[in-house]
Amino acid sequence: MVKTSKLRSTQWFGTPDKYGFYARSWMKNQGILPEMFDGRPVIGICNTWSEMSPCNAHLRALAEHVKKGVLLAGGFPVEFPVMSVGEPITRPTAMIYRNLMSMDVEETLRANPFDGVVLLAGCDKTTPALMMGAASVDLPTILVSGGPMLNGRFRGKQLGSGTDVIRYDEMLQTGEMSLAEFQDAEAAMSRSAGSCMTMGTASTMASMGEAMGLALPQNANIPAVDSRRAVLAAESGKRIVDMVLQDVKMSKIVTKAALENAVVVNGGIGGSTNAVVHLIALAGRLGIDFSLDDWDRLGKDIPCLLDLMPSGRFLMEEFYYAGGLPALMKELLPYLQGDALTVTGNTLAENLAAAECFDTEVIRPLDRPLKPRGGIAVLRGNLAPDGAVIKPSAASPELMQHRGRAVVFESMPDFKARIDDPDLDVDESCVLVLKSAGPVGYPGMPEVGNMTLPRKLLLKGVRDMVRISDARMSGTAFGTVVLHVAPESAVGGPLALVRDGDMIELDVDAGRLHLDVSAEELAIRKAAWAAPKPHYDRGYGRIFIDNVMQADKGVDFDVLVGGSGDGVPAKSV
Ligand code: FES
Ligand code: MG
Repeated sequence: MVKTSKLRSTQWFGTPDKYGFYARSWMKNQGILPEMFDGRPVIGICNTWSEMSPCNAHLRALAEHVKKGVLLAGGFPVEFPVMSVGEPITRPTAMIYRNLMSMDVEETLRANPFDGVVLLAGCDKTTPALMMGAASVDLPTILVSGGPMLNGRFRGKQLGSGTDVIRYDEMLQTGEMSLAEFQDAEAAMSRSAGSCMTMGTASTMASMGEAMGLALPQNANIPAVDSRRAVLAAESGKRIVDMVLQDVKMSKIVTKAALENAVVVNGGIGGSTNAVVHLIALAGRLGIDFSLDDWDRLGKDIPCLLDLMPSGRFLMEEFYYAGGLPALMKELLPYLQGDALTVTGNTLAENLAAAECFDTEVIRPLDRPLKPRGGIAVLRGNLAPDGAVIKPSAASPELMQHRGRAVVFESMPDFKARIDDPDLDVDESCVLVLKSAGPVGYPGMPEVGNMTLPRKLLLKGVRDMVRISDARMSGTAFGTVVLHVAPESAVGGPLALVRDGDMIELDVDAGRLHLDVSAEELAIRKAAWAAPKPHYDRGYGRIFIDNVMQADKGVDFDVLVGGSGDGVPAKSV
């Protein structure tokens, strides 16, 4: 019945006793052929398909193509669902569930007879959650993304996911657009299966996976509905079987070099700030020393080569037709560690050898970048002792060095109540400060850091101001926005002590974020400070608040750092 095999799945399916009977017999109720239990690699297809996660709703069909590849290579494919979180639907913020999703992945992988896994992900948080969970088990692993939607088209114009929503909302409010037209725009923006086709967090994290070598080339780019996406899924299914036979575990792919390459590529694509917390959390699961300092050291001077919304003009379809991420990485090769191993079995440089750029307007050459600095800059100072981040390519050059008077909002409800008050004492030189929007404070660190400017200043034509918070912001947003301030205000970080009228100094080049208030005065304020009442006293919200680490540690749970490997748990009968 059983070939000689060291695969962990044989401890379920390979024993000639009652335990093997339990495992095989009940599986056979699905019509599975007997030879599937002969010791061949069992490949989990970890699926975040859900109709409430619209960017991943097509992944059920994509899984069939993965299965085809697994079968062709002589493996036994078994698809299973995990929790899925849809960015535009989930409240209070999809981020609060990233760690819960990762726990689902980790526990399901370890508790079942899998020898390798294909991760099917798409929407923002699903990709990091699956990578984090899989990392803590460390089976051979391949990421297959759902792929971006087709470009939005509305009234003869390109429409990028998320980018035009605010503008259309304003036009609806002022009567420039009817409700019927507004609803037409909704349909035009999201007109096919797939994830956001701007360089939001979904495209960023798919690109990070490919840059780390955890996905086949072109994983980030092929449109969701392009038949080549199905081929990539099938090829991934074939490849994972070989990886199991060759024992290429995830930790052999996601190394320090792979993470460093991801930082460089994030700069080259003008990627989302969210990649900072996700990759730090992933590194933590693998025991790799990787921190904000690595982002600062490697990322901040990388030129942005990609002319893609929100930094530029084009969308993911054009990026693919121009040669995709491989073409861009080939241009960035002088900054990359080309000898990093990838899931193809070849090195990154070997994968890139045949890559070609077909449109230098979309993918710029190194000597003609879209922006000289595409990466993420890290800020430190007495306002952010454990760091904060800013995306210089999304900021206004004239505000990168700025000293201004703080206008403080204690929470998002406070912000919403007062930001448009005509009597609010604010001008464009002020610094907007938002508290209680961090991992513990909101909780879940939502994407509210790019606060809308006061209406009276918008009417004056002001389009950017320095904004500081412990929140995140969407990959599709921009502005001179300081994010991820750590420690956050809700745990008593210095952000909690800022008061209206304090002077704040930002110097992006110097990496400095300074609150111009004496240490003595801050000590007095700290002594009078009381922690806000927690938002949850039970359930997952309570677990989150009690265990979550700060942004500089990736917002993972302290108890989830590291891994427990792929050891086979004790039998239940
Ligand atoms: Fe799902 Fe953008 S909302 S990818
Ligand atoms: Mg997003």
